[in-house]
Amino acid sequence: MDSCYVTTCTKILVFSIFFSQISFLFASSQTSKEIVFLVTGEEKGRLEPCGCASGQLGGLSRRHSFLENFLKDHPHTLLLSTGNLTQGLTRQDRLKFQTILQAMNEMHYDVMGLGKEDLFLGFDDLQEMGPSCDFPMLASNLKNSPFEKLYSKKWMDEKRRVQIVSVIEKNFENTVQQIDPRKALYQFFQNHLAPNIFWMLIYHGQMKDAVELVKAFPQIKLGVVANALDEPPREVVHVGDSILTSVPVGGKYVGEIYFELNESNNLVFDRMAWTPLDEKWEMSEKIQQILEDYQSFLQNERLDQKMEGRLTSKASFLGSQACKGCHLEAFKVWQGSRHAKAFQSLIKKKRSFDPDCLVCHSIGFKYKSGFQGVDKTLGFAQVGCESCHGAGSMHVASPTLCSMEKPLENKCQTCHDPENSPHFDFAKYWEKIRH
Ligand code: HEC
Ligand code: HEC
Ligand code: HEC
Ligand code: HEC
Repeated sequence: MDSCYVTTCTKILVFSIFFSQISFLFASSQTSKEIVFLVTGEEKGRLEPCGCASGQLGGLSRRHSFLENFLKDHPHTLLLSTGNLTQGLTRQDRLKFQTILQAMNEMHYDVMGLGKEDLFLGFDDLQEMGPSCDFPMLASNLKNSPFEKLYSKKWMDEKRRVQIVSVIEKNFENTVQQIDPRKALYQFFQNHLAPNIFWMLIYHGQMKDAVELVKAFPQIKLGVVANALDEPPREVVHVGDSILTSVPVGGKYVGEIYFELNESNNLVFDRMAWTPLDEKWEMSEKIQQILEDYQSFLQNERLDQKMEGRLTSKASFLGSQACKGCHLEAFKVWQGSRHAKAFQSLIKKKRSFDPDCLVCHSIGFKYKSGFQGVDKTLGFAQVGCESCHGAGSMHVASPTLCSMEKPLENKCQTCHDPENSPHFDFAKYWEKIRH
């Protein structure tokens, strides 16, 4: 773990020296009167499209290619994240958080607002990760926290500044004291009265509350809200001459918000677009390497064997072989189906140690008696009978007394959801595995 960290840091260092030269060149040949805010965030643990279906959007790798391409034509760009990179407090969430930070270093983020989900990891963990992160993390209204600050950057003609505050809505449960967003913003504005400041707000909460804040503080010209939308909003919200938008979940799009200097030298909103990260964007070698390193961490720590967060069940899992003797016909149908080969798909994609995939591509992974790695539970490396009918030990011991679950369509949909199986149609799919 340590040695790996060192190599990554060196890589980052070399690359950022290279990059600072590029930005210097851009700055000296500056002609554009346009500035762009590029917005991402709300990954919620989604590092890459899983590949279960074609046409999936997003992934850190494509994002990197998009950014490299975009920055060529748009020197005045500020790249920011609204956070919520992960959504939990397991070991895997922590590894993921670190992985996304590394990828964001590679992409040269300017700043990130910490979301409620990030804060699950706790201040100690977040602080520990701080030094490996090349950009500041903000939680501007969390009192006495290391993140109670704003972000400030010189802009265009050197006299201008963009200042960003990131606040979390009221009544957020946390061990630290939280300042009311209004009070926090008031204090920041009081302490920074210089002219030519362009204020931007990252808000973790409801859009309607963000709108009220912008009404109360019209000096905020741009607000970006993190409130778990599935799809990007069609239009921006206008409040006076300020605008607001919200970031969709899953890292599938990059938001481009364009502001322009008008004749009286004020920055005014021009337009906004959400670019879908589809197959058009190539994989980035650097990010692919970071993702492979992450998979190695999962493998080295054997997260496929860990019991963290697993449930207990009355009966225990046995594997499909245990059903063969009494249900031969059903067994044959199953054996010929893709369910029987679901684990091979993970091996092919080098993801067979990733709990995120194992929940649907193995037997009973959510339970203590379910899949625990191929060395211990080879017979569970499949979507088996018990993935649909439930754990079988009691039924096998007394078939007539203990009956098995007869699954309905909604059981299928726990795995065949719109993201992983967009063309799922029960009648058609059941036909393929009828037994
Ligand atoms: C929520 C459940 C779920 C999760 C999580 C999931 N999968 Fe899948 N996966 C499916 C389903 C369902 C299918 C079949 C989709 C279809 O054909 O309609 C599938 C199909 C696939 C296929 C296609 C196999 C083929 O030959 O066409 C691959 C590859 C795959 N998944 C890899 C992964 C990887 C890698 C992960 C983890 C990053 C993952 N899956 C996580 C449910 C899931
Ligand atoms: C535990 C998760 C899970 C459940 C529950 C589940 N499936 Fe699947 N299903 C998968 C996975 C994963 C695949 C892809 C296997 C592969 O090729 O890697 C798949 C593939 C399939 C396929 C093959 C698709 C094709 O295009 O050939 C069919 C058909 C199917 N499932 C039907 C069903 C039906 C019907 C149900 C409910 C009765 C169901 N599945 C329940 C995980 C599940
Ligand atoms: C993808 C999900 C899925 C898998 C995998 C699966 N089944 Fe089923 N099974 C079903 C569904 C759905 C039914 C239909 C239930 C009904 O008729 O209400 C069913 C029906 C059955 C029935 C008949 C129940 C009845 O009274 O009609 C038996 C027996 C059975 N399955 C055994 C098995 C065995 C054994 C395996 C593994 C070799 C298996 N199933 C794998 C979903 C699955
Ligand atoms: C020792 C023989 C035996 C084994 C092993 C066995 N079953 Fe059964 N199973 C039966 C019998 C007998 C019935 C019919 C029970 C009845 O009609 O009351 C049955 C019924 C079922 C049914 C229909 C619903 C119900 O319970 O009435 C399902 C589904 C099923 N079995 C699934 C499985 C699965 C999955 C396995 C493997 C984990 C399995 N069985 C293992 C003998 C067995």
